Amino acid sequence: MEFNSTILSNVEMSPNYWRIRLTAPAAFAAATPGQFVMVRVGGSIDPLLRRPFAVYDVGSTTKADGTTTVHFEMLYKVVGKGTTLLSRLHGGDSVDILGPLGQGFVFGDDDEEKLLVGGGIGLAPLYLLARELVKRNSPVRLFAGGRSRNDLLCLDEFERLGVDCHTATEDGSHGATGFVTVALNQHLDALAGKKATLYACGPDPMLRAVAKIAADRALPCQVSLEAAMACGVGACLGCVTPGKNHSAHTPDYRCVCAEGPVFESSELKWGASA
Ligand SMILES: Cc1cc2nc3c(=O)[nH]c(=O)nc-3n(C[C@H](O)[C@H](O)[C@H](O)COP(=O)(O)OP(=O)(O)OC[C@H]3O[C@@H](n4cnc5c(N)ncnc54)[C@H](O)[C@@H]3O)c2cc1C
Ligand code: FES
Repeated sequence: MEFNSTILSNVEMSPNYWRIRLTAPAAFAAATPGQFVMVRVGGSIDPLLRRPFAVYDVGSTTKADGTTTVHFEMLYKVVGKGTTLLSRLHGGDSVDILGPLGQGFVFGDDDEEKLLVGGGIGLAPLYLLARELVKRNSPVRLFAGGRSRNDLLCLDEFERLGVDCHTATEDGSHGATGFVTVALNQHLDALAGKKATLYACGPDPMLRAVAKIAADRALPCQVSLEAAMACGVGACLGCVTPGKNHSAHTPDYRCVCAEGPVFESSELKWGASA
């Protein structure tokens, strides 16, 4: 659905990372973990294209008169023109939104451990997932990584859900020093072959490493991809990524916006561009 949304708040939560809360129609409450929205960040034609952002959280407020309003939140990192413009908007301003879009995470067997792996802004789609998994009584752990502590967002909110959080930073300013995949591997060693499902979102090298860990240990793994997108609804094919059978002679592409952004890692080709 396309709708005009009013910004309720838009605050910088860590250097370069922002959190925005927006109004939504009642039907938006059905958004599922891993889905995203396309946001038109400016009223003018520049930038022309909407920008995709994960749905971080969805909620509703009931007023004294009994009316209920739905809102949702996004976390975003300022990286270019669109996100800079977004960061300049204030409460009361309005933006045009398309969504919720795409295929989100699949919850799997409730009893097995769910291991969520987020790198930097890749934590954004994992909060709603963690909340849903906790609701289903699944044991949930978060492995959060970043360059420094500034990249580790909203950990207290994950902890409030009862999620065990393991952190790693490249500069050692929070948690273990190094890549978050080291902590993930250590935990998987300790599980000693017990079943677990991995869910990951973050930079491509991290996703590739998590997909390899899952393949080596024969574990199911869902990854949420952040391809560049133009339409967000499967019309332009600007967001395709190679599928597992892709080769120079046999093209096999997956449309990230319509078939994803969440895929089983084993369905993708983990070459240079996946
Ligand atoms: C399904 C999906 C969900 C996303 N969720 C979030 C989210 O929750 N929070 C968030 O901050 N970002 C998210 N992104 C990425 C976000 O869409 C881009 O950062 C944003 O479009 C950049 O817009 P811009 O105009 O500021 O940057 P541009 O001016 O378009 O680009 C600036 C720089 O950022 C790089 N860039 C642009 N888009 C991407 C991308 N998708 N991945 C990596 N690098 C990119 C460009 O190559 C360029 O170097 C998501 C992307 C997808 C596809
Ligand atoms: S962004 Fe147009 S098809 Fe995916």
